Amino acid sequence: MRITINRIKEMKQKGEKIAMLTAYDYSTAKILDEVGIPLILVGDSLGMVVLGYESTIPVTIEEMLHHTKAVVRGTKKALVVGDMPFMTYHISVEDALRNAARFIQEAGCQAVKLEGGVTVADTVKRIVDCGIPVMGHIGLTPQSINQLGGYTIQGKTSQAAARLLDDAKALEQAGAFTVVMETMPTPLAALITRKINIPTIGIGAGVACDGQVQVINDILGSFADFVPKHAKQYVKLTDIIKKAVSEYQDEVKSSRFPTDQQSFTMEERILAELEK
Ligand code: KIV
Repeated sequence: MRITINRIKEMKQKGEKIAMLTAYDYSTAKILDEVGIPLILVGDSLGMVVLGYESTIPVTIEEMLHHTKAVVRGTKKALVVGDMPFMTYHISVEDALRNAARFIQEAGCQAVKLEGGVTVADTVKRIVDCGIPVMGHIGLTPQSINQLGGYTIQGKTSQAAARLLDDAKALEQAGAFTVVMETMPTPLAALITRKINIPTIGIGAGVACDGQVQVINDILGSFADFVPKHAKQYVKLTDIIKKAVSEYQDEVKSSRFPTDQQSFTMEERILAELEK
């Protein structure tokens, strides 16, 4: 049975830390599910780490649904969250509801995530009222990168910090079941975590958050373009993959691959007949 939003909320009450990761494909999702990762986000970071865009802004809902379906197919237990891409929840509440419903009905995930606090609280409430769990996302919100002026730390002035606290409270009030807090000072994230009852999931927000989320490619070292300060590389897959691929290339060139072990035989008699 899949993990429910009630279980995720209970984890905060019980002081159990939540380890969340992104995934974008069937095989990776299956591994995360087997390890017991309770929350998997099909993030719109897909645009950068899988599709090669410069930011998350070009990501379309069709691309998100395509990858969310694959992740759902790879999981049995994890609660899968689909990230609503840029401009799929801003134009009108009706548009947001229709798009959120596509994630649940077509892609089969259990919740959606959208960026923003006070400004999207009404939309969050309407989505939640329709029975769709919502994860909020405040702080550094990459879909607003052009407005923010760069991937910089948020909430450093007293006004900006107060706004982030208001954002978190507005999301809780609107019925969000969790809130991602990205790139903000550790003490501010700790304070927000104390002030709201829903779990906070940090990324570059320090250890006091109720949980942490990371982009899977960052912790596996499989995205070499840029390594964010908040990421720890547990392995460097680019090096391992490069080594394996060059070994393969050498073996193909020198006819050392394939060997008999990777090849198939047939009856000599049939071959002899064909040779005639
Ligand atoms: O798109 C994403 O991967 C995200 C996480 C970084 C929280 O929004």
